Amino acid sequence: MPRLIHLSDLHFGAHDDRLVEAVERRVDEDKPALVVISGDFTQRARTEQFQDACRFLDRLKEQGHDVLAVPGNHDVPLYDVLRRFLSPLTRYRRYVGDTLCPFHEIDGVTVLGINTARSFTFKDGRVSHEQIEHIRQTFEHTDPKSMRVLVTHHPLFAMQVGDEITPAAARSELALDAIGHAGVDLLLAGHNHHASIHDARDLVTRAGSALVIQAGTATSVRVREQPQSFNRIDIEGSQVTLTVLVWNGSEFVNEDAKTFRQEDGAWSAVQAQAPEAAH
Ligand SMILES: [Fe+2]
Ligand SMILES: [Fe+2]
Repeated sequence: MPRLIHLSDLHFGAHDDRLVEAVERRVDEDKPALVVISGDFTQRARTEQFQDACRFLDRLKEQGHDVLAVPGNHDVPLYDVLRRFLSPLTRYRRYVGDTLCPFHEIDGVTVLGINTARSFTFKDGRVSHEQIEHIRQTFEHTDPKSMRVLVTHHPLFAMQVGDEITPAAARSELALDAIGHAGVDLLLAGHNHHASIHDARDLVTRAGSALVIQAGTATSVRVREQPQSFNRIDIEGSQVTLTVLVWNGSEFVNEDAKTFRQEDGAWSAVQAQAPEAAH
């Protein structure tokens, strides 16, 4: 049963060391087949912040974990204008990874990451026409029975966070058409520092069948409506179980797991089994 750990919005430079250590401990205990990190590695894209992120990644890799990462808007320099427009992701490529749209296959699961961080639309992000084509072509060549997972930093849907509606990445409608066509099953993203799970069809009318899984911030001190958290995603055939691990002030604790099953191209929640009566 392939297990993914989905971390997001680490924000080195505005992080809490205790949470970083606790994440590493839990990742090591949970033994995922892949650690997915959906962007915002740093707070301000400064060299020393990327060096902290790099050391974190090195420790994960030394523990034997594979990592798939995409950049977030905070990984593009905001105030260093020359760097922002001329070489926005140079430090990311040096310290996190050279591949901005990474791809990983594990037993029955195909994972593709897409970079939505841009210099011009700094905060909200965008999907390019080339990336939309890349999504189509990548999934066209994967095993039709595999679980198809797409990772972005920016959500492809407007989302409700408290009283606010946060916007979708630009060109998300075109991306959603390609995602529906390519049969993408899971969409993983971050950016809002707010964990949630939705059926895509409850968010927009023109979506294919995908589960939309948002991660909270794992280690940033800047939270929104919720404490820090990250996601554990267990995949078994056409069934997905999401467990959100939430920071309670001293450790990450498991929230109740939610299980969804995909049948005839549609997701539905599986009711948790009632505990057996004691004899
Ligand atoms: Fe963030
Ligand atoms: Fe972000």
